[in-house]
Amino acid sequence: MLKGKIVKISYASPVCTQDGKSVIGKNGDMPWRGKVPSDMKRFVELTVGHSVVMGRKTWDSIPFKFRPLPNRQNIVLTRNPQFTIENSGVIVAHSLEEAVQQAKSETVWIIGGAEIYALALPVTDFLHTTILYEKFEGDAFFPKYNLSDWMNIYFKRFKAGEAGAEKDTINSGYLIFKRK
Ligand SMILES: NC(=O)c1ccc[n+]([C@@H]2O[C@H](COP(=O)([O-])OP(=O)(O)OC[C@H]3O[C@@H](n4cnc5c(N)ncnc54)[C@H](OP(=O)(O)O)[C@@H]3O)[C@@H](O)[C@H]2O)c1
Repeated sequence: MLKGKIVKISYASPVCTQDGKSVIGKNGDMPWRGKVPSDMKRFVELTVGHSVVMGRKTWDSIPFKFRPLPNRQNIVLTRNPQFTIENSGVIVAHSLEEAVQQAKSETVWIIGGAEIYALALPVTDFLHTTILYEKFEGDAFFPKYNLSDWMNIYFKRFKAGEAGAEKDTINSGYLIFKRK
């Protein structure tokens, strides 16, 4: 939906909603961290070689030794004109438009969190969703969207411990939606 760019959102969320809302995080982290390595592996495979756009709080949530995310152009969104990230090659942008303009790749991955998903959803072409078949409470939520605007083009279930999810301890599903 942005000229010359394909915008894709990647997010993970429990299938059970909390007050009708899809949980994506709690206390600045994802409460299922470490329990679904297949999701992390897929996230890397999908995003490597592309630009990834994240909010400043999601940047802060990535452990120091894992950031910037390797082999990807990292772009961090902040409203703070003083915010800088030293010596890392990371782009700091102050609007979604600026972030997308700075992106070197044709495909731009929006990787969270809640505020940035809400900002980008109206211009997103594809949603890559990992659903977790376990209940988690949280304080950060994916923005509500109308499923009738989206066409499901892919679905695969992963059973914890089985092929493709050998190290997982939670059953999950991977869905791709394309905007109609
Ligand atoms: N489940 C998932 O797949 C997933 C993925 C990623 C993150 N998460 C979770 O999401 C949560 C964090 O989400 P969040 O909503 O609190 O934070 P966020 O979206 O990561 O970052 C919010 C920050 O982005 C900046 N920002 C927001 N709107 C902006 C705009 N219009 N222009 C420029 N900058 C803007 C602001 O930074 P400044 O304050 O610096 O101005 C704001 O504080 C965490 O719990 C994290 O673990 C989940």
